[in-house]
Amino acid sequence: MNATPAAPAAQARGPWAVYRRLLRYARPYVGVYLIGVAGMILYSATEAALAYLIQQFTHGTFLQHDRSMLWKIPGGVVVLFLLRGIGDFGSNYFPGWVGRQVIKDLRHELFAHYLRLPTAFLDRQQSGALLSKLTYNTELVAAAATNASVSLIRDSLGVVVLVGYLFYMNWQLALFCIAAAPPIGWLMRVANRSFRRYSARIQNSMADITRVAKEAIDAHRLIKIFNAEAHQGARFDHANEANRRSNMKLVFASALSNPVVQLIASMALAGVLFVSIRQVFAHGLSFDVFLGFLAAAMMVPPHLRRLVNVSGPLQQGIAAGESVFELIDEADEREGGARRIDRARGEIEFRDVSFEYSSEKGAVLSAVSFKVRAGETVAIVGRSGSGKSTLASLVPRFYDVSTGAVLLDGHDVREYRLADLRSQVSLVSQDVVLFNDTIRNNIAFNAVGKTDAEILEAARAANVLEFVANQPQGLDAPLADRGQNLSGGQRQRISIARALLKNSPVLILDEATAALDNESERRVQQELSLLMRGRTTLVIAHRLSTVESADRIIVLDRGRIVETGTHRQLVASGGLYAALHGMQFSV
Ligand SMILES: Nc1ncnc2c1ncn2[C@@H]1O[C@H](COP(=O)(O)OP(=O)(O)OP(=O)(O)O)[C@@H](O)[C@H]1O
Ligand SMILES: [Mg+2]
Repeated sequence: MNATPAAPAAQARGPWAVYRRLLRYARPYVGVYLIGVAGMILYSATEAALAYLIQQFTHGTFLQHDRSMLWKIPGGVVVLFLLRGIGDFGSNYFPGWVGRQVIKDLRHELFAHYLRLPTAFLDRQQSGALLSKLTYNTELVAAAATNASVSLIRDSLGVVVLVGYLFYMNWQLALFCIAAAPPIGWLMRVANRSFRRYSARIQNSMADITRVAKEAIDAHRLIKIFNAEAHQGARFDHANEANRRSNMKLVFASALSNPVVQLIASMALAGVLFVSIRQVFAHGLSFDVFLGFLAAAMMVPPHLRRLVNVSGPLQQGIAAGESVFELIDEADEREGGARRIDRARGEIEFRDVSFEYSSEKGAVLSAVSFKVRAGETVAIVGRSGSGKSTLASLVPRFYDVSTGAVLLDGHDVREYRLADLRSQVSLVSQDVVLFNDTIRNNIAFNAVGKTDAEILEAARAANVLEFVANQPQGLDAPLADRGQNLSGGQRQRISIARALLKNSPVLILDEATAALDNESERRVQQELSLLMRGRTTLVIAHRLSTVESADRIIVLDRGRIVETGTHRQLVASGGLYAALHGMQFSV
């Protein structure tokens, strides 16, 4: 078995499959969308009615000298535009509402899926690209689902109604308008294809922009100390320019499609004019019908123009939807079995465990076997890259073993429900992750059912209270930018308080004090000892002073256990541990 999840079942691809899938998100709101469609029908009907009004006006005023036209026509115009306004509003508002709803649902699903993605998959992703999918791509999908679909329906309807009206008035003339359809259809197909290609590029470059910006914001200290502003600026400019260039191709294609459509339409119109003027001379066509026909025929090209224009956003939405669905189809983290556990005793066993991140990189752990009794403290030491952190991350199943098994209380960790397993393990590591929230909420991170008194006790025991005492808001002081305003030791104490409150039977300390100087390490060490009391603890540390007191020490080298024993035994045996220990003293 490999650490990378199996590829998801092959999904039907292609623009139509994606569009059908997008429509599924809109299905719950189809009623609201239909109100919008009613608006579109009303809107299109008023257009044909306008042409009809022009014909009536000409007929009544010039040919019949009907005085009632004085009131009927202006009144008709007002009523017509009132109806048109209502249709216009409905055809934009209701689909717009549906679009925002779809975007929300899609974001919800995508974010919920991010939380369930396997660690091995997330390791390979760029967080900027994931962010841009959540923000930018979903926005494009909504634009396709609303603006584009509205235009698609409304303008198609407009063309159908107007052409229908033209046929009704004079079918021979109307045939000329139909002649323009094939070249325009061909043009739309060509435009669609190029739009889709450019949109994929635009999305990638947008992901690059987000990624570079995110990295620069996260690494602001590093950039300052290396005077790397110009270097980072250049990286950003590169992504920014790539984005502009891809966008310009889209702008070019859509700017070009407009005049071409107009040109084709004008040729059809020229044909109509040629034939109709001949008919007028032959007295086959009355003035009012001619004018009404012309008015309706002139209303068609703007619809066609919008129809061709719509393919940009539509194709962008499809391309964006494709990349969003690709991520949604990525397999979830593998759930465990059905075994439930409330509180484990804390016995851990590695039974002939081998592990590899990927087959190219090869085994990171090979045939690792050892047992930890409940409440015991076992230290894992070894050179950098020997596999210590990897070993620890197999316990809460950040990754699953390739062969062998990790057991908790005698059962394979994969048998437990994942949530139950993870609630048995606390992890305190070198990089403390804090959220933009109050100190209190950072300590009580997802601590359901913990009382204020318990939170306060954890904060006190981890000596968090000591440094919040001089802050007016105490524990409720908000952390600025994920705790950048705290010292390393203070941040570590918050994470210790968090682990104290979680109170799980198994504790993993991965270089918990590595980032601290000797003075604060000594102080944090006291709080760590308190945290370790009564728990099964795996301690990983470079500084061997912190592991000397462990019940047992396991020495890893290139993924294999090379020595085990107490500090004294290992020093006496003169092996790798003794060598590492000797190196420490010589520093
Ligand atoms: N997420 C990952 N994806 C792929 N390979 C990884 C990953 N994490 C670690 N590795 C590789 O696995 C090996 C063991 O790494 P690991 O982090 O377990 O070492 P370590 O003993 O904890 O080292 P250190 O003392 O420096 O923390 C290394 O060769 C490393 O390159
Ligand atoms: Mg490590």
